Amino acid sequence: MQISEQTRIAVIGSGTMGAGIAQLAASAGHQVQLYDISPQAITRGLEGIARSLQGRVDKGRLTTEQYQAILGRLSAAEQLSELAGADIVIEAAAEKLEIKQQLFRALAEICAPQTLLTTNTSSISVTAIASGIPNPGRVAGLHFFNPAPVMKLVEVVRGLDSSPQTIDTLCQLAQRWGKTPVRCQSTPGFIVNRVARPYYAEAWRALEEQVAPAAVIDAALRDGARFPMGPLELTDMIGQDVNFAVTCSVFNAFWQERRFLPSLVQQELVLAGKWGRKTGQGVYGWPREAQALPV
Ligand code: 3HC
Repeated sequence: MQISEQTRIAVIGSGTMGAGIAQLAASAGHQVQLYDISPQAITRGLEGIARSLQGRVDKGRLTTEQYQAILGRLSAAEQLSELAGADIVIEAAAEKLEIKQQLFRALAEICAPQTLLTTNTSSISVTAIASGIPNPGRVAGLHFFNPAPVMKLVEVVRGLDSSPQTIDTLCQLAQRWGKTPVRCQSTPGFIVNRVARPYYAEAWRALEEQVAPAAVIDAALRDGARFPMGPLELTDMIGQDVNFAVTCSVFNAFWQERRFLPSLVQQELVLAGKWGRKTGQGVYGWPREAQALPV
């Protein structure tokens, strides 16, 4: 498959990542269908994209005509069956293997045999997601980072049966979208989410041991180690629900190795619905007010 503006993209899941990917694809000139099991979530996703693009207009990065053209390329799909004409499907639904397997089996029946079926999973085995579908060579991971329109990296993840052509095409797609693709094998957390686990885990432990307040831990890593965000504020941006689910998934996939042990404090935030920026409360209250650090 040769990638062009005519390549039709479908995105499944209109949460933070799905909406960000849809925005990116439409900005790159593709017709994009956005599907979610909840119609309200699609509306919220499209509204979020419009707000994000309006921000670009306000900053003078986008003209009003470009804004309208991008929004015009986005459409809501009410049924999964409406994605039958897609050339590339990018699944960004909930981080649960059963949900993804169900979706991929349905997509394999709905879409043409040559349609590439990709998953934005952060940590689940691409091989497992592809299992049970007739031609798993067209399945691969296409893993974006939050915020998807901004972050350069895309992990192009090879499952056991992903074909080399599928991987090449996805690398070509990522480059066309202005991203830096890296190829990796399907293993728990791939590269970034695996290596980043100790970054989050150690910050939670430092918080639990009252080494310092959250704001101080974050400032230390921002100002002392030049990370763009501290580990705890980053979990608020990613979403405590998502970050915790990824940690649990990597922990379990590595046979419960202690170095990936999830934090009980983070679990409490998740159970309380304090998922960070998207719910208005996480480690911090959002929008965050600038506060002087305790000295
Ligand atoms: N959507 C679209 N654009 C956004 C955005 C968003 N959510 N957030 C910021 N931007 C844009 C801004 O408009 C701005 O654009 P401009 O340069 O054209 O004006 C640009 O990004 C920079 O933003 P700001 O000036 O507001 O702020 P910063 O310079 O502090 O950058 C940041 C914000 C890019 C979020 C930066 O803090 C950062 O890189 N943080 C770390 C993010 C990170 O580590 N992400 C990976 C998380 S792990 C993950 O996603 C894996 C998954 O599997 C869970």
